[in-house]
Amino acid sequence: MKTEEALSWLREEDEEALEELWRLADETRRRFVGDAVHLRGLVEISNHCARSCAYCGIRAPSRIRRYRMSEDEILDCVKLACSLGYGTVVLQAGEDPGLTLELVEDLVRRVKGETPLAVTLSLGERTPEELSAWRRAGADRYLLRFETSNEELYARIHPPLWEGALGRLELLRHLRDLGYEVGSGVMVGIPGQSCSDLARDIELFKELDLDMIGLGPFIPHPGTPLAEAATNTVDQVSADELSTYKMVALARLACPEANIPSTTALSTLNLDEGRELGLSRGANVVMPNLTPPEYRALYEIYPAKAEVPDTAIECASSLSRRVLAMGRRIGRGRGDSPAAVRRASKEKPR
Ligand code: 5AD
Repeated sequence: MKTEEALSWLREEDEEALEELWRLADETRRRFVGDAVHLRGLVEISNHCARSCAYCGIRAPSRIRRYRMSEDEILDCVKLACSLGYGTVVLQAGEDPGLTLELVEDLVRRVKGETPLAVTLSLGERTPEELSAWRRAGADRYLLRFETSNEELYARIHPPLWEGALGRLELLRHLRDLGYEVGSGVMVGIPGQSCSDLARDIELFKELDLDMIGLGPFIPHPGTPLAEAATNTVDQVSADELSTYKMVALARLACPEANIPSTTALSTLNLDEGRELGLSRGANVVMPNLTPPEYRALYEIYPAKAEVPDTAIECASSLSRRVLAMGRRIGRGRGDSPAAVRRASKEKPR
């Protein structure tokens, strides 16, 4: 997939022409990762955050009630993931300095010791020491979206904590060196983001050789600076479903073996069909939310997240039903990306 080709799909508006993109993405998904839909249980373990990202509802200046789950509370959610038959738990939080190296290290050890689950961490930009200690404790995967490949736009929406801190791209390369399965992704339709920016994002997914790619529409959060941003950029991408499906499909064509979730942000825009449309246009993963409801409501990175009112069990059974109704099946086991499986077998001594 050439950059110009991606760009012309991103600019395509004709629905009939787009059917070809959906077909190509779906066929590529089936050929490279099959019909299994992997379920990853998401636990939002803390909404404390040291950062001031212009788009995010849990940014440090937001005057919201903050929580950090205890290890036992987290373990209860992890065990729920096991009993629901999931193969992976995703532990996500704001960039919370209270989640110290030792605390996360203990947590990962406990999850790996007490369950057969793969552990994915999504805890923001942490130090090389922390990332390496957590990997040694058994963490399998790390998610860190680079949000946009447009450096000028990125600097505007994502002020660094301190000058000279490692950038996200360096961190992503470092995660790979540590032996993590590496996930990244972008928001679609950030004010000031153009179609050419998105085409470059796709290039970067390929260059980084990602195992997981998360894509969701930008959803303005009223309490944040970016909610009021004026968008008079030429070639501005709209933060809508269609642009997001195009990115899901193009990511599948660029990185055929990657695990690509049909994200909650997508189903927030279209509660009835968003998940299914994502899954039929390149995605092969869903991340049901297992955060206890009282905390879930406080983890409001954008407003009206889909699923907020449901309990984990309701979520899980309705999801499975919907996956089966599409003629797909629920993935069993950890659901590692094929590239990660190959890397691991090369690393093993013969
Ligand atoms: N709209 C959509 N996605 C958002 N994220 C954060 N804030 C928003 C928003 N307002 C996404 C970012 C982040 C992920 C955890 O959530 O891409 O990496």
